[in-house]
Amino acid sequence: MDDLIRMKHKISRHIEPNNIETTGRRKFLSRIWKILGLVALAELAFFTISMLRPGRKNLKDHPELNFKVAGNIEDFPINSVTADRVNKFFLIRSEDGGFLALSLICSHLGCSVLWDKTRNQFVCPCHSSAFDRVGNVINSPAPRALDYFPVLIEGGKIKVDLGQKKSRKKFENNQVTYAI
Ligand code: FES
Repeated sequence: MDDLIRMKHKISRHIEPNNIETTGRRKFLSRIWKILGLVALAELAFFTISMLRPGRKNLKDHPELNFKVAGNIEDFPINSVTADRVNKFFLIRSEDGGFLALSLICSHLGCSVLWDKTRNQFVCPCHSSAFDRVGNVINSPAPRALDYFPVLIEGGKIKVDLGQKKSRKKFENNQVTYAI
């Protein structure tokens, strides 16, 4: 009987480490498969999203896709500033009825500027740059005026060309668009 027990211990000493090793390897492999599965899913999701969005090539081939219809002329009162935070611009309607689309990205280090109605100026919350209502710098450290986007007016609709952000030193009248 003693012999039998001794033999059993001997056998289990030989077998158990292997079993542990095999179980460990299996767990490791199963984890690797799970990670690979997640990576494959992420790639599939990325591929699907990129197929659904208009690509760079598409935007080049179809510049009209760059245009964001901001609204109808009458949606924007004279002397108004309207923010489109999603597309990152302000649409300004001047006193004489012209339209100017200003980028809301500060020309200093790229923070988003805010419209301060009481001070009648754009202010940057990061380093206190300020810009007048046509985007000229009135308080540094911003080195130049806010960028602007060309505006097109077609069939009473205001279209902002988001594909052509223009950088500039200062405001000039030819940056304003009027309905004909
Ligand atoms: S990022 Fe606007 S002032 Fe610095």
